[in-house]
Amino acid sequence: MKVKLFNISIVSMLLFSCTPVSVEEDKINAIIAEMTLEEKAAQMLNLGLPSVLTGEYWDLRTSIEYDSVRFTEYIEKLNVGSIHNTVHPHYLSDNEEWHGILKTIQDASLNNTRMGIPVIYGIDNIHGANYVKNSVMFPHQIGLAATRNTELVAETAKITSYESRAASLPWTYNPNADISFSPLWGRIAESFGEDPYVVSQMTESYIDGSQGESLADETSTAVCVKHYLGYGAGANGKDRANAVIPEGMLRQLFIPPFAKAIASGAMSVMVSSNSVNGIPCHANSYYINDILKGEMGFEGVVLSDFSDVEFLVEAHEVVDNKKEATWMTINAGLDMIMNPYDADIVDFIVEGVTSGAVSQERIDDAVRRILRLKFRLNLFDKPYSDPNDFPKIGSAEHIETNYKAATESLTLLKNDGILPLPVGKKILVTGYASNSLNVLNGAWSRTFLGQLPDFNDSSKQTIFEAIKATNKGVGNTLFEQGTDYLTDVNTAAVVRKAKQADYIVVCVGELPATEKPSDINELDLPSAQQDLIKKLSKLGKPIIMVMVQGRPRIIRDVEPLSNAILMAYLPGQEGGRAIADVIFGKVNPSGKLPYTYPKFTGNMLPYYHKKTDIRSIYWDYNGFYPQYPFGHGLSYTTFALSNFVADADTIMGDGSIELKINVKNTGKRKGKATVELFIRDLIASVAPDVKKLIRFQKIELSPNEEKTISFTLNTEDLKFVNAKNEWVVEPGAFTLFAGIDPDNPMEMNIEYKN
Ligand code: BGC
Repeated sequence: MKVKLFNISIVSMLLFSCTPVSVEEDKINAIIAEMTLEEKAAQMLNLGLPSVLTGEYWDLRTSIEYDSVRFTEYIEKLNVGSIHNTVHPHYLSDNEEWHGILKTIQDASLNNTRMGIPVIYGIDNIHGANYVKNSVMFPHQIGLAATRNTELVAETAKITSYESRAASLPWTYNPNADISFSPLWGRIAESFGEDPYVVSQMTESYIDGSQGESLADETSTAVCVKHYLGYGAGANGKDRANAVIPEGMLRQLFIPPFAKAIASGAMSVMVSSNSVNGIPCHANSYYINDILKGEMGFEGVVLSDFSDVEFLVEAHEVVDNKKEATWMTINAGLDMIMNPYDADIVDFIVEGVTSGAVSQERIDDAVRRILRLKFRLNLFDKPYSDPNDFPKIGSAEHIETNYKAATESLTLLKNDGILPLPVGKKILVTGYASNSLNVLNGAWSRTFLGQLPDFNDSSKQTIFEAIKATNKGVGNTLFEQGTDYLTDVNTAAVVRKAKQADYIVVCVGELPATEKPSDINELDLPSAQQDLIKKLSKLGKPIIMVMVQGRPRIIRDVEPLSNAILMAYLPGQEGGRAIADVIFGKVNPSGKLPYTYPKFTGNMLPYYHKKTDIRSIYWDYNGFYPQYPFGHGLSYTTFALSNFVADADTIMGDGSIELKINVKNTGKRKGKATVELFIRDLIASVAPDVKKLIRFQKIELSPNEEKTISFTLNTEDLKFVNAKNEWVVEPGAFTLFAGIDPDNPMEMNIEYKN
């Protein structure tokens, strides 16, 4: 029954009557005091959009049609707290249509419910506002990490946020703060890579760009940092696999990016679907209540991942019914449950409180966090945007930033001098990734898996199209795809055409996929794609290999057959153009690997491994032989480092020292260089990592230009997690390595004394 006076909801009256002191918390408390238990439980529900539409959840749709019964039940009767994502998977709305969807939902939530609480709509903006038809789609996070350009990352997040808000979508399930520990993991592309420092810095920049100065600003979106915790470390490298992570390692590697995110003001966190040490993260009170909400002091919303209450029953098998699974997650600290298909958990939550299985305080705490997020986003006053206020969606300005991000992400792994290519020669472009926007964009591109070509934009260029556009001269650019992802389509035709070419650009890549569909059983680049390179190499013509892939697929056998190798990751809609511009030298590449590129499946270690992982004191075999080290990335110019100096050789107590290093462009082209600073603790009570990244800085230099860059180092940089799982610094000696080329740094020793 509606309890409304003069068409004003209870919330509107409460808001009106509050004093300005701690206004927000007062308002929230006043609302909570008025809510029924069922209304509170409904706030904790996050439904999928199809659950308020006609038909079955996974139906393919060509339009948005509301199911009046479900719409009334979920939105108007329950006043559901949240809705997520889009329909499956063949229909896509532009920002005007999204506005219409949000208007329908929010008008009903505010006007046709007892409490008048707006829905918070969440969406996977994985590399741009990718579910909004007219948005830009950036390089995936792994490429953004390769830019080592934190300002640029913030800029991409800001644009994503703007374009999301242009569609009235205020809450993004991003950034991904996972440490990609296993190179096999299918979601590496969505992460910032293997290094906790890079992941932390990039996560912070993304949050700054996305959340802006204030969430009430109509162009800011609230982030949902994911996936807490250890998702990228599945022991078998598969999606949602159990990870084995001892406490010390958890604290040293996996927690820091989340701690940084919370310190940066992240408003929500998504819990990971996997288990760690056999305990599903959704049932892990220690991880959520004690560490996230306790130690990190997180006051935002903790959201479950997709259908993960069911997952506790059906996959993890830690409980045999969904009702108790719901209680388990809420008691573990979950505030909102992504329960896409229906509202069954609302009844479970109500029963949990009435039976005493879940406390009323826990529910009030969860609802308080949810309402806080809604207030910060100003959803009560402005539940959807006016699309006319967002003229810059998909604009030339946004596309330019996208292009810049793509160019800075491209990482030149090998070059025997063949690149850049001259314009006007005969070039054959071939390979699975050579003529596909889908492969450049990967998953989460207009559709979940990004595999439907109908959403490709004819104004964008594939690698072949972009090379052809630059390589002037009729008939100078030849094309023959040759292979599919796994199969030979017509490599014989490629070899025939290659005979006419001066250069061969072979574009290899991965199938657009994420989550379970991205699981693989071997890391090698699929043999059909390798065979193409092997066949072409017999012609003795220069081969440029372009890799369009999230993971570091093993290329040991074909690497020596290529004169140059360009790693493109998943560079997004401007990727084709950016790749062509690097190939022809319009752009000087400056990306750096955000992970260690393995050469052998039996040797897949991150760079920060232990000394004993690779070496015994008696025999030096089984050493560390990556194909390319973390931080590797070549330029068309050369840089020289000199004068690596410190203002003191000892850090005392809580003190700090200032380091300086000179960087000079010694080549003939303007270029960007990133200096990375690593530290090695020489003796520690826990076997130290061989090195650990603690700073990076990217600068641009003209030929002969020299700059001095400086880093301030303090005791925090010397710390590690000891056997008692505490961050400590132990007195003794440390070596610092400062380098552009990770294999050729400048070194210095310092001491720490307490
Ligand atoms: C993924 C999340 C995503 C969520 C909502 C899950 O299956 O693991 O990353 O945010 O779905 O689409």
